[in-house]
Amino acid sequence: MEVIETSRRMREKSRQLKREGRKIGFVPTMGYLHQAHLALIRAARKASDAVVVSIFVNPAQFGPAEDLDRYPRAPERDLRLCREVGVDVVFMPPISEIYPRSFSTFVEETALSRPLCGAARPGHFRGVATVVAKLFNLVGPDLAFFGAKDWQQSRVVARMVRDLAFPLKVEVLPTVREKDGLAASSRNRNLKGAARSDALCLYRSLKLARKLAAKGECSARAIREAMARLIARHSRARVDYIGIFDEATLRPQRRINRRSRAALAVFIGGVRLIDNMKIGPPK
Ligand code: PAJ
Repeated sequence: MEVIETSRRMREKSRQLKREGRKIGFVPTMGYLHQAHLALIRAARKASDAVVVSIFVNPAQFGPAEDLDRYPRAPERDLRLCREVGVDVVFMPPISEIYPRSFSTFVEETALSRPLCGAARPGHFRGVATVVAKLFNLVGPDLAFFGAKDWQQSRVVARMVRDLAFPLKVEVLPTVREKDGLAASSRNRNLKGAARSDALCLYRSLKLARKLAAKGECSARAIREAMARLIARHSRARVDYIGIFDEATLRPQRRINRRSRAALAVFIGGVRLIDNMKIGPPK
């Protein structure tokens, strides 16, 4: 496994892999790898001949009052896991390689990135799109792997790839959950004591939404309110948003249909968690 820290070397390596005729599968991450990252890496290994993982905590996607400093890091452990799971290249650049002094160009998707997390975190998806575009340029992947836990992010990236004609295919893999249903996340480690069990309310409210829809409840508002009531039973939980959205446009829905997705963001004891689930009318 090669560990690369400079953009220049990353580009060279990408060119070399292409010359060898190898199909490059790419998994961008912010490190502190967990089972969901490893699932993406395994999928990349299956579908390609060379796997590149990037580990870069991207300051541009954190707001000024957000948890950049609190974002967990464990580079040595990450490298060990990458080695174990068969990664070919880890791209681990310092901030100055991605954002050199006088960096002044950003990529902004202007429709799908507006609602949901985009409303709550202004500039977040601009930071994501910019770093992902730059990483795509440096890594030159044929396939790029993203997780459905960050459903809106995967939609924004796919739109950017289409709109700007990046020559690669975006693959979105299902949400990986811990045994009890909590979506795996690097931020889960910041959940202390009872906050960990309260965090389950996101998953429970999504399952409730799915059940109500499957039973024939077709009012998005009724479902949203039932989800909110379930969350409100947890004193440490503070809702950022809850809603039922159209998968294609990400607009809030009034009535449940085949394109419905329930999604929410909730602060649990100060840690912001997100989750989502496809829901639908009775079969
Ligand atoms: P990070 O949070 O490290 O996530 C890296 C990838 O893992 C993303 O595609 C994310 O959707 C996926 N992932 C995380 N938790 C998951 C889960 N429980 N189930 C399925 N997939 C999961 O997302 C980012 O980093 C950054 O925004 C990045 C794309 C790297 C740009 O900086």
